Amino acid sequence: MIHCRVAGLGRYVPEHILTNADLERMVETSDQWIIDRTGIEERHIAAPGETTSTLALAAARVALERAAIDAAELDLIIAATTTPDGLFPSVASLVQDGLGASRAGAFDVNAACMGFVSALATGTQFIGAGSARRILVIGAEVLSRIVNWQDRGTCVLFGDGAGALVLEAAEFGGPLGFVLRSDGARRDQLFASGLCGARDAEGNGPLDCYIQMDGPAIFKFAVQAMTEALRETLSGARLGPDEIDLLVPHQANLRIIQGVAKALGLRPEQAMVNIQKYGNTSSASIPMALCEAAEQGRLREGARVALCGFGGGLAWGAMLLEWSTSGIPPAASTSGGRMTASRAGG
Ligand code: COA
Repeated sequence: MIHCRVAGLGRYVPEHILTNADLERMVETSDQWIIDRTGIEERHIAAPGETTSTLALAAARVALERAAIDAAELDLIIAATTTPDGLFPSVASLVQDGLGASRAGAFDVNAACMGFVSALATGTQFIGAGSARRILVIGAEVLSRIVNWQDRGTCVLFGDGAGALVLEAAEFGGPLGFVLRSDGARRDQLFASGLCGARDAEGNGPLDCYIQMDGPAIFKFAVQAMTEALRETLSGARLGPDEIDLLVPHQANLRIIQGVAKALGLRPEQAMVNIQKYGNTSSASIPMALCEAAEQGRLREGARVALCGFGGGLAWGAMLLEWSTSGIPPAASTSGGRMTASRAGG
């Protein structure tokens, strides 16, 4: 069994901050309502020239630098996003080019806000199978481009950002288990079904390009689904909730996170929360929170780190990792399935 470690983490958010006070001037809402119902105080919004791939590239550069790994050493780049720059090329291919990752394959994963957990699970399987030794896994979004800024029911929730990590083959650490689930029959509860390129001169798209949802139904579902996915993942690893060192949940709503923590009987310090500064950044929320937790010194060697997410699909799941930063990569054994350099652009 080949284990894997997280060799480096990076994050990036656009400079512009949109506060709740700003939103009070845009729709009929209040700072107090947003904080009470969601925990969000502000979010970052991409500038006109920024795209998901530019955010992803900025986060990836930090992760590589902290990992002290050259881009040419990457075997694979996986980017989770629901807001790619275009239908193709993939965001991962654009990042591959931007980094000069000359040997890396690249593809995107779309599982809405569950994208990062799905991408990370995929990456760990590549390493576990011996098909890749160094993988860049990214979550990046410019959700501000698919938010209807006239709809107070959704526009207060979302923000833009990117997080990235470098996974590397190691002698210790890696996934202790994961659960990925989907129920496409509930697709009408959370969706953005249109092609968002079609916009008029004012930047307005057709209504079906925007995120639409049944907020209360999603809220109830999220607490239940993430709790069950975490319980199943923990029980597969023969561990109890009290043995989680840090839970890094998708940051969609503070009350959802508190609901999951309460259902599992977690202590407040067991859950990572940074939603107040960024809002819901979909695929980017977990890697951004994971990166911030590492910066705060909350991810010690050997820690058991649980991730959980939910989103459009509906899709949900959880993953449990034994955290390792200092594992020694095994000697090169690249027989079978090594990713070859690719500039696949469609
Ligand atoms: N400001 C002020 N009032 C608002 C508002 C806003 N931004 N948005 C909704 N309201 C109003 C509603 O119109 C409603 O008014 P009414 O009682 O007069 O009809 C009232 O607040 C309560 O609305 P409701 O939708 O029941 O509130 P809620 O407590 O469920 O909170 C969400 C709404 C959206 C914050 C919450 O349901 C939620 O977070 N759901 C999950 C959504 C999510 O995470 N989606 C992304 C998944 S990845």
